[in-house]
Amino acid sequence: VSDMLVDSFGRRHNYLRISLTERCNLRCHYCMPEEGVKLTPGAHLLSQDEIVALAKVFVGGGVDKIRLTGGEPTVRADLTDICHRLSGLSGVKTLAMTTNGLVLERKLPQLKQAGLNQLNISLDTLVPAKFELLTRRKGHDRVLDSIDAAVELGYNPVKVNCVVMRGVNDDELADFAELTRHKPINVRFIEFMPFDGNVWSSKKLVSYAEMHSRLAQRYPSLKRHCDHPNDTAKNFHIEGYQGSVSFISSMTQHFCGGCNRLRLMADGNLKVCLFGTAEVSLRDALRSGVPSDELEQIISLAVKRKKAAHAGMFELAKTPNRPMVHIGG
Ligand code: GTP
Ligand code: 5AD
Ligand code: SF4
Repeated sequence: VSDMLVDSFGRRHNYLRISLTERCNLRCHYCMPEEGVKLTPGAHLLSQDEIVALAKVFVGGGVDKIRLTGGEPTVRADLTDICHRLSGLSGVKTLAMTTNGLVLERKLPQLKQAGLNQLNISLDTLVPAKFELLTRRKGHDRVLDSIDAAVELGYNPVKVNCVVMRGVNDDELADFAELTRHKPINVRFIEFMPFDGNVWSSKKLVSYAEMHSRLAQRYPSLKRHCDHPNDTAKNFHIEGYQGSVSFISSMTQHFCGGCNRLRLMADGNLKVCLFGTAEVSLRDALRSGVPSDELEQIISLAVKRKKAAHAGMFELAKTPNRPMVHIGG
């Protein structure tokens, strides 16, 4: 493999997150403001062919894992075709998706057939009324059904992403942990991160240390098990439970040293860090018809400019970024 995707700190980027759309069928407070966000005009969004063409360039440079995000990826009508084409690229070992699970259940068998082999579903509360407050929409039962459908289809583990916020859902840690008792579910408790329009405050952040100590008190058998290299999560297991629980400590113990992730936005911009503001338009390069070695050069230059780590939560809270719904996590 070339060093196109190796940054100046020696980090190899083999994991590409592709945002398929800026739209979402929920309105989660931690992700976007009530009125939604300004959407990029359709003509400026990547077409299916452009997504595949760009993905090919990254795969040629060593990417072997692609995650589809949004917005909400399932609102894109050609999702199954996209899965099919991306999973078919030679070199792609993992095709993953992060979804809110709202309209997933009935699409899941065809997505699995199309090569989607890892699934992360976002769910921040087990209380139906709270779901409506948090997401400003209905549909809690449908998300739960999607999680069950994913388990039944053999996704193992099914990862459930829970953004923990003080005074909102931090009383539900043990209830979430119970999801892992009889099912191959990996519940991931995520520290609340600041993005444009999400009214972040450090008071609402519950740190990894605090979440862990609360859970360890309730489950004395809670034990660390090994992390995979480049993992965003610190993984634990409760004795006798089928699944596992993890913590994603982006704010209090960042994992930037092991970062292997790049992001392609729905508008075709490459974002080399979740919190990086420097972006480069691969859409414009592609549409201007540059040869592929020039495209590789543009990508390589952007990767080489990636910073060692993010600036820390207080600095990030002051720095303009995109709203989370554009970035897709
Ligand atoms: P796996 O591939 O299953 O490990 O998933 P993932 O953690 O890479 O992706 P997912 O979309 O499930 O994101 C879970 C949480 O991790 C979200 O809050 C993301 O914003 C956060 N996250 C994902 N990638 C990064 C990253 O590169 N940096 C930081 N700081 N957070 C990230
Ligand atoms: N802080 C932490 N995680 C977030 N996510 C969305 N917004 C935030 C935030 N402000 C999570 C979603 C989803 C993943 C892609 O990112 O819950 O699971
Ligand atoms: Fe990678 Fe940036 Fe996330 Fe750190 S904050 S892990 S460098 S994407």
